[in-house]
Amino acid sequence: MARVFVTRRLPGDALGRLAASGHETDVWERREPPPREQLVARARETDALLCMLTDPIDGPLLDACPRLRVVANYGVGVDNIDLAAAAERGVPVGNTPDVLTDASADLAFALLLAAARRLPQTAEDVRSGRWGTWEPDGFLGHDVTGTTLGIVGAGRIGEAVARRARGFDMTVLTATSRAGTPLPELLERSDFVSLHLPLTPATRHLIDAAALRRMKRTAILVNTARGPIVDTDALTRALHDGTIAGAALDVTDPEPLPPSHPLLAAPNVLVVPHIGSATPRTRARMADLAVDNVLAGLAGEPLPHPVSA
Ligand code: DGY
Repeated sequence: MARVFVTRRLPGDALGRLAASGHETDVWERREPPPREQLVARARETDALLCMLTDPIDGPLLDACPRLRVVANYGVGVDNIDLAAAAERGVPVGNTPDVLTDASADLAFALLLAAARRLPQTAEDVRSGRWGTWEPDGFLGHDVTGTTLGIVGAGRIGEAVARRARGFDMTVLTATSRAGTPLPELLERSDFVSLHLPLTPATRHLIDAAALRRMKRTAILVNTARGPIVDTDALTRALHDGTIAGAALDVTDPEPLPPSHPLLAAPNVLVVPHIGSATPRTRARMADLAVDNVLAGLAGEPLPHPVSA
């Protein structure tokens, strides 16, 4: 019987399947992630780790867990894991692709629409009683239909966002590291820029002050990928001084942002708490894929959803 440490309770019945398979499951029951020393202590005697984006998995942690045979990340992004360190130690890493594509693309588009039409601010005016009457020039937002969307990163989620954009008659530009519209041109031509690429050393602060200056003053930035792809200080300045018109963020750096952070003081920013995949069906499917990876790893089989270094 193998031992599996699961770093948070998961929606759906996948953990039941894991337990029914005869493995001992040790589930971290608190809402907050295990602190580092707890993660190491609990993972030390474990054969499989089912972890998530809030758990940094690095070389020292892997060295502290000599029995570890598989790391299954609950999520598609794996920037919390040192993939090279895992590969060096022969520990396969898996993730949960595809099942969260539509939920994540839906959220990106919801953010785009909400920021364009100023839904948070206008709803707040209704709630607080500040809205007095309908006015011809009241609460004007940005057009979406027929405008240009720049998608940075052309993976599954980026493509799913592009499909939604076509339903709004948008012109879609795509920039990848190897093909498509060059990033500077995409930034200059787009009315909305949506980020859909993994966080790597090459993409950290890809959207910096210079990139933001290339964007139209009327443009809105949407980030549902990873916070550090955007230079937070540069974005804060760009929103406060009107370099761009707005930002809608599912992810931030740091995450969460402290409530006193100056980014949150910008009137034209919408921040939600990393909810791209947050629907019951999606989160349950992610748990299924993560458990599939654990079971394959424990059986010494290739992972069904592997990540390569
Ligand atoms: C992921 O899967 O990487 C998301 O950010 C969390 O669902």
